[in-house]
Amino acid sequence: MDLFEYQARDLFAKHGVPVLAGEVIDTPEAAREVTERLGGKSVVKAQVKTGGRGKAGGVKLADSPADAVEKAGQILGMDIKGHTVHKVMLAEMAPEIAEEYYVSFLLDRTNRTFLSIASVEGGVEIEEVAATRPEAVAKTPIDPNEGVTREKAQEIVEAAKFPTEVAGKIADILVTLWETFIKEDALLVEVNPLAKVASGDVLALDGKVSLDANAEFRQPEHEALEDKAAANPLEAAAKAKGLNYVKLDGQVGIIGNGAGLVMSTLDVVAYAGEKHAGVKPANFLDIGGGASAEVMANGLEIILGDSDVKSVFVNVFGGITACDEVAKGIVQALALLKEKGEDVTKPLVVRLDGNNAELGRQILSDANHPLVQRVDTMDGAADKAAELAAAK
Ligand SMILES: Nc1ncnc2c1ncn2[C@@H]1O[C@H](COP(=O)(O)OP(=O)(O)OP(=O)(O)O)[C@@H](O)[C@H]1O
Ligand SMILES: [Mg+2]
Repeated sequence: MDLFEYQARDLFAKHGVPVLAGEVIDTPEAAREVTERLGGKSVVKAQVKTGGRGKAGGVKLADSPADAVEKAGQILGMDIKGHTVHKVMLAEMAPEIAEEYYVSFLLDRTNRTFLSIASVEGGVEIEEVAATRPEAVAKTPIDPNEGVTREKAQEIVEAAKFPTEVAGKIADILVTLWETFIKEDALLVEVNPLAKVASGDVLALDGKVSLDANAEFRQPEHEALEDKAAANPLEAAAKAKGLNYVKLDGQVGIIGNGAGLVMSTLDVVAYAGEKHAGVKPANFLDIGGGASAEVMANGLEIILGDSDVKSVFVNVFGGITACDEVAKGIVQALALLKEKGEDVTKPLVVRLDGNNAELGRQILSDANHPLVQRVDTMDGAADKAAELAAAK
């Protein structure tokens, strides 16, 4: 989960990374009072989860409360790379910036370790510096068992050739930034710019944090950081039911058991769709191993609730999951939706194989639901589902 800058700022402050005061607002008028509180000047910053805000006109200096109201008015509602600005952060204005650096910690999947990236040439896009002047970017692997001690921080500072007069301060900041990274279960913590100001202080003026969703169970406070307004309502409903669901932009609803099978089902449906008006999978939904009839019913309810879905392909290879449970789930879900008065009109193509497949097929035959048809091969079922979606 990526955070907004103001949320990253809050986490930095919590762990002792030096930041300036900042407050979030969503109406231009609110900028007046906040800017007064910040000392009469402020930096108005668009809060969107994308980079390059400054270049897009989403970061503006305001030299009076009235100016802040005007700038906030210009930035709120702005579109930055497809992200509408709903909130701006007003930050205290840094006293005269002398230099801008870059520091980050991240999970380096390729090398199976953590990595520190640091550069004296911060402020601008670090990707650009890395591409044009790789020698200006210091990459230091971090042993996860040792973490960033003061000594390790010193090593990073030397590798990046930070000026002597800020070396100690930056080493301290690296230690607190690492604490943020570990204690918050982050996948990325980035400060750009880390600025040296006229007084000699070093401050984090912009931050990016990405949290590890797999650590949610031990980070109860992170739930409050989720951007509920931006979440897809179907994904939110699926999450509430504990389902592994991702909305996609096609027309064939997909349910399967096991992430691998579901992924290959997406491929097979996309391939079949090429022959049928280019229809594509509408979602990823893995009901997991050993799913009960109830889980199946929950999944089907989510998918049938998606107005983009024109047909549904249920693809189950029973291992731990028993096909008779899946079949019962399908029958139950259709009965439940009917009870609720929902008019189900979308055809379902079901392929059951493996554990208790015969029993499952029998349950479907007995139910004899007009919208359900069985196809016993994966390719055949994908083709049928794509054909039905194209016909709608
Ligand atoms: N509080 C502040 N006081 C003074 N100047 C600031 C402050 N915050 C940012 N700036 C200046 O504005 C520049 C751009 O700000 P910032 O890094 O937050 O946005 P950005 O880099 O354009 O956005 P993104 O990180 O999304 O690409 C900084 O490099 C810095 O020079
Ligand atoms: Mg920045």
